[in-house]
Amino acid sequence: MNDIHLSFILNGQRVNLVIAPNIMLVDLLRDILGLKGTKVGCREGECGACTVLLNGEPVNSCILPAMKVMDQFVTTIEGITKDHALDPIQQAFIDEGAIQCGFCSPAMILSAKALLEKNPNPTEYQIKESLSGVLCRCTGYKKIIKAVQTASAIRKSLG
Ligand code: FES
Ligand code: FES
Repeated sequence: MNDIHLSFILNGQRVNLVIAPNIMLVDLLRDILGLKGTKVGCREGECGACTVLLNGEPVNSCILPAMKVMDQFVTTIEGITKDHALDPIQQAFIDEGAIQCGFCSPAMILSAKALLEKNPNPTEYQIKESLSGVLCRCTGYKKIIKAVQTASAIRKSLG
């Protein structure tokens, strides 16, 4: 199959490039665009480490052909800092000790961001549900859930 032209909005900026038709989004992000914050775990849509936001919704980028994001909005962990300042969710993960190896953290943080954009005041159950697609092998989930609760409070205080 011939290479195809792909144009999409990545972290707020339009990107135009030519890609192999069978490349997955995670490989485009990491290997061609150099955005290594998106992690690769199972490559089977099971672990969630490769989560990015597609039009604000979490998706597994390891099973999403890059060609499917034509003219769509993709956000990676690199795209949520503003003027080099951490997003409040990132800061809360640090403050609450919710990061150990950090392998799941980009996916957890992006999943939490999608949740808090829609529901600024989630219950613990809603937080658990929103993070259920991402596996963490290190921290257990208590600190991660606490971090999302803290981020929710910080976002509210910032208005
Ligand atoms: S690497 Fe994509 S779900 Fe595991
Ligand atoms: S912090 Fe290591 S996998 Fe979650």
